[in-house]
Amino acid sequence: YTEIKRLFRSPDEYIGKTITVPGWVRTVRDSKTFGFIELNDGTFFKNLQVVFEDGKLDNFKEITKLSVGSSIEVEGELVETPNAKQPFELKAKRILVESFCPADYQLQKKRHSFEFLRTISHLRPRTNTFSAVFRVRSLAAFAIHKFFNERGFVYVHTPLITGSDCEGAGQMFRVTTLDMKNPPRQKEGDIDYSKDFFEKETSLTVSGQLTGEAYALAFKNIYTFGPTFRAENSNTARHAAEFWMIEPEIAFADLKDDMILAEEMLKYVINYVLENAPEEMQFFNSFVDKGLLERLANVVNSDFAHITYTEAIEILEKNKDKFEYPVEWGVDLQTEHERYITEQVYKKPVFVTDYPKEIKAFYMRVNDDNKTVAAMDLLVPGVGEIIGGSQREERLDTLEKRMDEMGLNKEDYQWYIDLRKYGGTKHAGFGLGFERAIMYLTGITNIRDVIPFPRTTGSCEF
Ligand code: 4AD
Ligand code: MG
Repeated sequence: YTEIKRLFRSPDEYIGKTITVPGWVRTVRDSKTFGFIELNDGTFFKNLQVVFEDGKLDNFKEITKLSVGSSIEVEGELVETPNAKQPFELKAKRILVESFCPADYQLQKKRHSFEFLRTISHLRPRTNTFSAVFRVRSLAAFAIHKFFNERGFVYVHTPLITGSDCEGAGQMFRVTTLDMKNPPRQKEGDIDYSKDFFEKETSLTVSGQLTGEAYALAFKNIYTFGPTFRAENSNTARHAAEFWMIEPEIAFADLKDDMILAEEMLKYVINYVLENAPEEMQFFNSFVDKGLLERLANVVNSDFAHITYTEAIEILEKNKDKFEYPVEWGVDLQTEHERYITEQVYKKPVFVTDYPKEIKAFYMRVNDDNKTVAAMDLLVPGVGEIIGGSQREERLDTLEKRMDEMGLNKEDYQWYIDLRKYGGTKHAGFGLGFERAIMYLTGITNIRDVIPFPRTTGSCEF
């Protein structure tokens, strides 16, 4: 078998040769004596044009009955077509039908809405848009591993089941057993954890950071890349209950180093995808988001902006009539505020730093003003926040004081406190929401359309 990608990437190796290509029929047109099939084999964004002729095939009649979605194998000669829109076509000598696709197939050749395609998540990767999205997703994941690997970062697999709430926001999914002989549920709303599998209350992780820190304080530079879970009751286009996060953690490093790393990583991933998925990126630029390629080129070639939270609030307060949610120093920024800053004011990625400590997690390093923490969020046009990070509190006494203030049980976090006690040092890290990065790379505006089988509030299909 020959893959269609190879034909497009090195046609000279194949022109004039007889090859066999398996694939799925995207379209079929025929007249009395000949016809065309657009064949896609999944290895490449573009289709291979197949021509078939009566007299040259022993099953011409059968082939004229082929339907969209059918799977076939074509043996034929690859010939150049200098005057056509495709560079070559496959002149069929033999076509084997693996399976005919019945007429009730939902993916007929027409434009389907994203909403409709979400209801057939098992079929949508066969469309142009979703084949492009999910190949870009795969390439971006690889680029992230490549980036960190080239810099000597150790990839750490942090646990998915956890006993701690990293972000302290209480947005966790509980983990219990369904052992009916030994039911964890004693009475409605009351679970006896001493009888449950772990003999304590456990949840799915919202972030790999805390255990990631333990490894950074052994390996200096590490990253995680895995699924995270949040029971956020926000039914928006950028929140999912199950999403993937990339979380580097760097020791002997501060917030500035953290932001430099984030900017380099994002630019690296953009460049990698532009180089390795040019057809897909061109497609997004033409059909999904007209200014995409120009915008990404600007991002790669310019420096990200930096402002403090306090400066952001000043800008927002001057424009407060433009917003639904009120702004004043101390409030958390809403999506509309984030997007205003990055889309209207800077028109490029912006790091917002030094947020009020009250609205951020316990582990962030308290600044000298004792009011703000060494936190950074990266906001990008079209999406809003895609990265959240901080320098971590390395001072034992300050950390314990913060944990008390926030009502955390220090016994549960003794291991985390030990990281300060034994060989503690300044360190920092961040979390990149992988799906939000894919939205940014493709111009797709709904997170449900960059996750193969999305899980969101009220929806867990498949
Ligand atoms: O800002 P967050 O909550 O930061 C953390 O979890 C830190 N522990 C990261 C760290 O410092 N190691 O989340 C990080 C990113 C957000 O900026 C956003 O891109 C993404 O994760 N994110 C979500 N993506 C999709 N759906 C959700 N419900 C998300 N919640 C956060
Ligand atoms: Mg955040």
